[in-house]
Amino acid sequence: MTLAIMGAMEEEVEPLLERFENVKVTEIADNKYYETTYNGNNIVIAYSKIGKVNAALTATLMIEKFGAEKLIFTGVAGALNPKLKVGDMVVATKLIQHDVDITAFGHPWGFIPESGDFVECDAALVSKAKESAKAIGVDLLDGIIATGDQFIADSKKKDFIVDTYKADATEMEGASVAYVCKCMNVPFVVLRSISDAADMDAGFDFEEFLKSSAKTSADFCLKMLDNL
Ligand code: ADE
Repeated sequence: MTLAIMGAMEEEVEPLLERFENVKVTEIADNKYYETTYNGNNIVIAYSKIGKVNAALTATLMIEKFGAEKLIFTGVAGALNPKLKVGDMVVATKLIQHDVDITAFGHPWGFIPESGDFVECDAALVSKAKESAKAIGVDLLDGIIATGDQFIADSKKKDFIVDTYKADATEMEGASVAYVCKCMNVPFVVLRSISDAADMDAGFDFEEFLKSSAKTSADFCLKMLDNL
């Protein structure tokens, strides 16, 4: 099996790359892809750079050029659910692009004609994430992730996303990767560790906790690999 593991920022995949030896690096479309093997599986790792377009490009290339048959996204997110604190882990059950707005034509927020709104993660991979969490004693929240090309650091925007989508966490890539994987029939899951609360302190908190929360998520992802 070929498994793709992707993040958005270097900090999100660095803790993974550190663990592997014999990594082959290939450059395509202004980005680097790292191939290795683990537990008898081929693994391709990359960070896409921030945002939905970059993430969709990377996910597509991982599937088309590197033959990824499953995909795990690992990284950080802003908490929307007050139960979530910095360093907590979230697995997405479904994701939505919160910034899609064609309400002028009567469509609900987040909805694209012929494309839909929420995309569900692969149930088997979500179960594997939960099993891994149980095995290592991590409190893993399963919930809705709202994705947009916006860093949310404002309580009005945060409230809008919560009220509109009932989302538990927000980030800038997951739903675009989810949509690519859905269209290309590739089972996927999105794992995120909280770096901030998407509020007025989010910018400071993100800078302070990016590295540690990114490592928390990457370490969790590695534990999950042992259970796949
Ligand atoms: N990723 C981590 N924190 C975030 C936030 N507050 N908004 C969007 N993406 C994030």
